[in-house]
Order: sequence, then structure tokens, then C-alpha cells
Amino acid sequence: MQILSDITKSAYLQVRENYNIVNSDIYRNRFHLMPLVGLLNDPNGLVQFKGIYHVFYQWNPFETEHGIKFWGHYSTTNFINWIIEPIALSPSDWYDKNGCYSGSAVECNDHLYLFYTGNVKGDKNERFSYQCAAVSKDGVIFQKKGPVVFLPEGYTSHFRDPKVWKVHDSWYMIIGAQNSNIEGQAVLYKSKDLMNWRFIGPIAGSYLNGLGDLGYMWECPDMFELDGKDVLLVSPQGIKADGIRYNNEFQSGYFVGKMNFDNHKYSHGEFIELDRGFDFYAPQTMLDQKGRRILIAWMGMSDHMQDFQPTKKYKWIHMLTIPRELRVINDVLYQIPLEELVQLRSNVIIDSEARINQVEHGLCIEDHKTLEISLKFDEALKDEFQISVRNNVKIIYNPKKKVFTLERRNFKSNKIEQRHCVIDNLINLQIFIDVSSIEIFINYGQEVFSSRFFAEENESKVVFSSKSEVKIHVLAWKLNEIIIEDKSQQDIL
Ligand code: FRU
Repeated sequence: MQILSDITKSAYLQVRENYNIVNSDIYRNRFHLMPLVGLLNDPNGLVQFKGIYHVFYQWNPFETEHGIKFWGHYSTTNFINWIIEPIALSPSDWYDKNGCYSGSAVECNDHLYLFYTGNVKGDKNERFSYQCAAVSKDGVIFQKKGPVVFLPEGYTSHFRDPKVWKVHDSWYMIIGAQNSNIEGQAVLYKSKDLMNWRFIGPIAGSYLNGLGDLGYMWECPDMFELDGKDVLLVSPQGIKADGIRYNNEFQSGYFVGKMNFDNHKYSHGEFIELDRGFDFYAPQTMLDQKGRRILIAWMGMSDHMQDFQPTKKYKWIHMLTIPRELRVINDVLYQIPLEELVQLRSNVIIDSEARINQVEHGLCIEDHKTLEISLKFDEALKDEFQISVRNNVKIIYNPKKKVFTLERRNFKSNKIEQRHCVIDNLINLQIFIDVSSIEIFINYGQEVFSSRFFAEENESKVVFSSKSEVKIHVLAWKLNEIIIEDKSQQDIL
């Protein structure tokens, strides 16, 4: 029988006491992972261990603000049936007392190891950060091992989010960092045994490898080999908006390159945003036993709009994206909705070849709160094409300017706001719409827009229209809910 710390017990009590209010919110989603109460942010520790997929996440059960963080825990074998597992990590020790911050998981000798950042605030509110380990035999109950990496010289205490992986017979850890010049970097460590780590140094960052200023802090790095390339994901803070690029407060993006593990030099191309929507941050990946590189991200970010999300009244905020399989094609990182999600499809709402034109003669489908739409364009678009979703979100493609736009109503002002990307030729769209989120995959995953939106309850239409006649093939399904079983609190309180 596991002995629970007081703070862990209070977290479970929060879930129990707020169950009704959280679940009375009309904006709860149906096929996405959300917090049971409070605030969820980064996905953590993504791993397939003994056949089971584990998705841990940053979780503050006590309020819809950032603050003290636990590692919440979901598991699944098929991405449809999920189990709520017991809390994996609670901020109950001197080295993590103000938060068990983000990190990763690896399997070694039949055990599951977690690496995370212990966040500690001193008496004068100064920050300390420790990279810590925890270990488990069953992937459910974890024994903390304490700090394994301390802050190196030349860095501020914004030093966190260890991602660990294996190359040949060495372990590597990459950490999100800010150096003493207040420049964001990804810093590498190496180990033979997961417990003793040797500092190697930064492998990428602001003013490194030919980059200019790319932010004052890099969060949540993740490095992996895919399709013959070495990809580095990172979430930098402090990049200024530049035309249609970097329009969110914080960014998440990738580099494609080659990592030399003999001299630890990483040569890479430019930084490219991973997702063009309003809400996407801190993505993490895992390699599964089928060899797929799977990504899940936080469908949110700590921008100033968080305070205006209507779900806060119902004591919860934020969610994770659907899982996506990654591929590198011509140095572009593609994101493809995970194959398993096909099992969510329920009845077909429409399957038709249609000729559509002006708004009045557009094609309108009834939206059932959860929807997957697959759209193929049989001929090249000549004029502006639009999809309006629940009178709140608009998807617009302008083939003359080659610009793809997502529009939604701002949570605070209700005014229209937009995000864009360049698409040379629109041939396909795959769109996942949940009660309060939309994920748009363009041209088989070449670009993605992920966003929250909060439409009026009675708005339930999706309307397709085009300025000049165009032939499209529309296929849409109502999607089932994911099935969630709670195994977290069995008789422990
Ligand atoms: C990213 C992040 C991480 C940190 C965690 C704290 O969203 O700021 O850098 O570990 O969230 O919850």
C-alpha cells in the first residue's frame, strides 16, 4: 500500500470536490485529454513501457493558475480507452517543493525512469532548479531518487525540462536553458547509467550555429532521429513577431539537421514553427514499439489570454492536442493524426462530391460538437475558399496570395483575430473539431493550426463556400468520445 503525502491527498480531494462543477461546463471536450480539475500544461514523460503508452502532464489541481505542479498521469493501449492513473509525482520534497516541472521518461533494465525539474523558491523568491530522477517497476508508482544534475556555471536558474534518450549505448539529456547573457539554449549532458551525468554544453541556441537572437529562454527541448535527420524541437520565449511569423506570445518550433555524437556538434537549418494556430506549446515526442515518432503538445500557452478562458469559471483550464505521427519530408516536419484515431469515427455525416460557390449557395453541414472533416480539392482553387465553424472560427485560403488563415473570436474582446501561413497549393484538409478546440492538418500534415475556441452553445453549423465555383469532395464523421476509466483514487482517501 502506497503512503500518500498530505499534498497528494489534497490534490485527490480537489478532484473529488470539484467533479460536478468541472463536468457541468459546456466546453468540456470529448476526445481530448484535459485536467480533472485545475490547470494542465505541458505533456511530460511520453513513453511506451511494457506495451502501454503513458502520457504524464503538468498539473496544478488547486487553481486555474500556474504555480505548484504535479505530474498527472494517463495511460492507454489504443489512444481511445484511457486510464487515469495515480498521481506520478507530487511536489513534496525539498528539491521539488514548488513544483515537479516538465521532463521525460525512458525504459532501462525493465524499469521506467522519470527525469523532471525540481523547482524550488527561496525565502526571497529566488529560484533554484534541480534535474531529478524517479523510478518505477510498474510504470505507475514512482520512487523519487532526488537531484541528479545541478545548475552548471554560466547559466541562470531557468534551467529545466530534461529530455532523456539513448544513442548506441550512451544516454543523453537535453535541457532547456538560459545562459548568464540571458540567451536561450539547449544544453546537452551524457551518462552511462542514468544517475551520473557529464555536462557537455549547448548544442543550439541564440547566437549559436549561425542563428541570431532566438529568444531569452528555451523551454522543453526534444531531440530525435527521424527519416535520416536529427530533429530538435524547442519552445523559445522572447522571439519578436515578424510579419505572419511568431505571432503568438511564445513559440514552438523545430530544426532539421545532423547531430554528430562524437564531437557533439549539431548543424541545422532554420527555426520553423511547428504549428500556426493560437494554442500550441511545449510539444514532446516518444518513439513507440511500431517505430512511430508520436507528438503530443499542450493546446495552450501561458500568454495573457489565459485569464479570459471561460472554462476557468468551472475550475479547469487547458487541454492536450490529439496525438500526431511525425515524418520528415524534404526537411519539413509533417504531423499526421495518429492512425488509431480512425476508431473514434461514428456515423458518416456527409460523403459527397459537391460544387460550391457563393456563401448563400455554400455547403452546410450540421455539426455534432465532435467532428472530423476530410476535404479533397479535385481542381486547383482560383478564388478564396472558406469554412466557417460554429460562427466563431473561419478557415480561409486565398490561392492568389497563397495564404492560409485561421480566424477566431478573441476570448476577451470577441473581436476577430487571425493567424496565417503560406500554402502554395491547397490540395487536402483534415480537420478535428471538438467542443472547444480545432486542429487543422493541411496537405497531409505539412502545416497544422491548433486552437481553442468558445462558440455560443446554439451555433452548430459548418459552412463551406467559395468565391468562384469549385469542386470538392467532403467526407465528415461524428466522432465518439474517448473512454476514460479512473484508477487513481481507489480507496486511498
Ligand atoms: C513550459 C514550462 C516548462 C516548465 C513547466 C512548468 O510550459 O514553463 O518550462 O517546466 O512549464 O509547469
